[in-house]
Amino acid sequence: MERIEVFHREELAKRLAGELMSADSSSGLFVTGPRRTGKSTFIREDLIPELSKAYGTQIVYADLWEDKSANPGHVIVQAIKSELLKFDGFILRAAKGVGLDKIKVGGLEMSIDHIGFGKGETLTKALTLLAAASKKSITLIIDEAQHSQVSEEGREALYALKAARDALNASTGPGFRMLATGSSSDKLASLVEDKDQAFYHAPLVELPTLDVDYLKWYRNSQAFEPKPSIEAMVRGFDACNHRPEPLRKVFQALRLASKLAAETIDVYFLQKMDEALANAKSNFYQQLNGLEPLDAAVLKVMAMEGKKFVPYSKASNMSYQAFIFASTGVPPDEITQSAVQTALERLRSEKFVWKAGRGAYLIEDTQHTAWILDAVQQERDEFDRAKRELQAIAAAAVVPKSGVAGSDTKP
Ligand SMILES: Nc1ncnc2c1ncn2[C@@H]1O[C@H](COP(=O)(O)OP(=O)(O)OP(=O)(O)O)[C@@H](O)[C@H]1O
Ligand SMILES: [Mg+2]
Repeated sequence: MERIEVFHREELAKRLAGELMSADSSSGLFVTGPRRTGKSTFIREDLIPELSKAYGTQIVYADLWEDKSANPGHVIVQAIKSELLKFDGFILRAAKGVGLDKIKVGGLEMSIDHIGFGKGETLTKALTLLAAASKKSITLIIDEAQHSQVSEEGREALYALKAARDALNASTGPGFRMLATGSSSDKLASLVEDKDQAFYHAPLVELPTLDVDYLKWYRNSQAFEPKPSIEAMVRGFDACNHRPEPLRKVFQALRLASKLAAETIDVYFLQKMDEALANAKSNFYQQLNGLEPLDAAVLKVMAMEGKKFVPYSKASNMSYQAFIFASTGVPPDEITQSAVQTALERLRSEKFVWKAGRGAYLIEDTQHTAWILDAVQQERDEFDRAKRELQAIAAAAVVPKSGVAGSDTKP
């Protein structure tokens, strides 16, 4: 069986590793990149090897999304434990009378089964012990760190890490760096911009997406002929937001197609890329149109407002009503807060939106945001008209205490 070959970005790994090790990143470094563009691959295949080789630091890697049902705090603890257990029992049990569940390094003793938050052994102690066992500084890499925000335990874990960071970075400590990734800068931004957050003010950088060098490499790795030109590939790759998967799928279709001519291969390739994108888009619209009118309305307002989105404000409520009015032709009854809450919960469980803790919501995939905004643009006139009419209805209902409230007013 053939494994997926990886295109290595050594130069980028060197730069990012240097950045992470610099004093400016001592409070942590947050790296964002859109979904499915190669963040995890880059970290595992290029960054971690570079960090180990050039900086001799002990890596702890935790992917908070590998098992979405797992508690993020637990995933981090497991990652630390498993690194500790890689050390020889002899190193870990330097003192007499210490059993397997207890370990002792450099005078520090702890129970390996009780690492956690609150009661038991702290993360600070576990990481200090790991540094002592490895005789190295510690670099913790948390993939999809925004996932820590969905539970209270996850948020606690980040606070515990902040405490560990400060202890290990103290002048007598072994040194500590943390790199966290996330698929949307909005999601990660909530981790560093909110002053209640553990990593308030840590720097946030964008991971460059795969570029023309990747495309050249990929093209060369393909044995069939004729192949699309690199110019056409750049265009197609841009159109699918620099995601290798759609590109690979189209190349598979090209490999299986018969009678392709060198003169027309570019046109054919771009057409296939367009089709792939159009398919994904129309699948998404099908899902969007299948939603409850309130759910779709909430999603649209969320797309329009972005980070400023406030689910329960008067203005948002008016916009939900206008979208429902525009799409159903019937002015909706009053929308209660609990109805909005239920809609948000449904959207979250269907993975349309992501809850950034404490009532903040974001659309899961930035590609979806763009598509929703296209749809909003299409119905802009109807939306504006619906809004004006609803405002007129509301005004008419307020002025005279008695009289009809316009429920029979049709557009
Ligand atoms: N450097 C690379 N060389 C070859 N293929 C790659 C490379 N980087 C990513 N890919 C391919 O792109 C796809 C997405 O990669 P990866 O899972 O690393 O992205 P991601 O940004 O971490 O995704 P997610 O948002 O789901 O976490 C995978 O199929 C992977 O094999
Ligand atoms: Mg990933």
